[in-house]
Amino acid sequence: MPIGVFDSGIGGLTVLGALLARLPEEDFVYLGDNAHAPYGSKPPEEVFALTCAGVRRLFDEGCRLVILACNTASAVSLREIQQRWLDPTDHRVLGVFVPVIEHLTQRDWGDQSPPTHTGLSTVALFATPATVASGAFPRELHFRARDVRVEAQACTGLVDAIERGDWPRAEALVAAHVTALRERLPVPQAAVLGCTHYPLVEAAFRRALPDATALVSQPQVVAESLADYLRRHRRFAGGSGRVRYLTTGDPATVGVCAARFLGAAAAFESPLSRAS
Ligand code: DGL
Repeated sequence: MPIGVFDSGIGGLTVLGALLARLPEEDFVYLGDNAHAPYGSKPPEEVFALTCAGVRRLFDEGCRLVILACNTASAVSLREIQQRWLDPTDHRVLGVFVPVIEHLTQRDWGDQSPPTHTGLSTVALFATPATVASGAFPRELHFRARDVRVEAQACTGLVDAIERGDWPRAEALVAAHVTALRERLPVPQAAVLGCTHYPLVEAAFRRALPDATALVSQPQVVAESLADYLRRHRRFAGGSGRVRYLTTGDPATVGVCAARFLGAAAAFESPLSRAS
């Protein structure tokens, strides 16, 4: 049974790449909602509706477990999807923030005890405007860890520069956004790159941040967390290493852009089910 990986577009391929490396024996169906990307500047109601439509398409493709690789979709929609929209006896939907929070706090998500002192004191979050506006990351973190200061920086323009492959512009934007954040929090203990696209400019973030700041690599952390989840939920595991790439956009155009994120060309198809 394939595992669905949903993203607003092609950025989620950074997460898929880590999943393929960590779990080569699983089958995956990737769906990029390129027809409606980017999500990062959309209002929450729209992100929620688009995310639900994307998850439904992946269910229709036979996936019973779906990973929201898109931080914006996770931040805006996951809680609502899990608590009100989904029938968890049939299907499961997981996001990308929970693994990061488990990693930062060293606390298991199933541990529902009150927030504790985890040794974590300051965190910088770099993300899209919609992710920052949702407040989801500090809210979920504060359920687990006490006395942590989170400073979030909405990195306006960065997704666009990365998608265009405009690396000088992307590097300049990273430097400007890190400088803006450091005016409020000069030396964060940890920094989270909370957007699918930012691993492509991770080196620029590393250069702009102080050496003492630990950078969290979201794709690797998510892949490790999924491997652990599959060990505990065997009914979602098992495949033969097959991967399919779906897009709501033009498959040929998306396939060309995707090579930058995946490191190799991928043959995208249109999903068969449901009109958008
Ligand atoms: N996938 C989105 C995220 O991780 C970035 C691209 C977009 O804005 O749609 O937040």
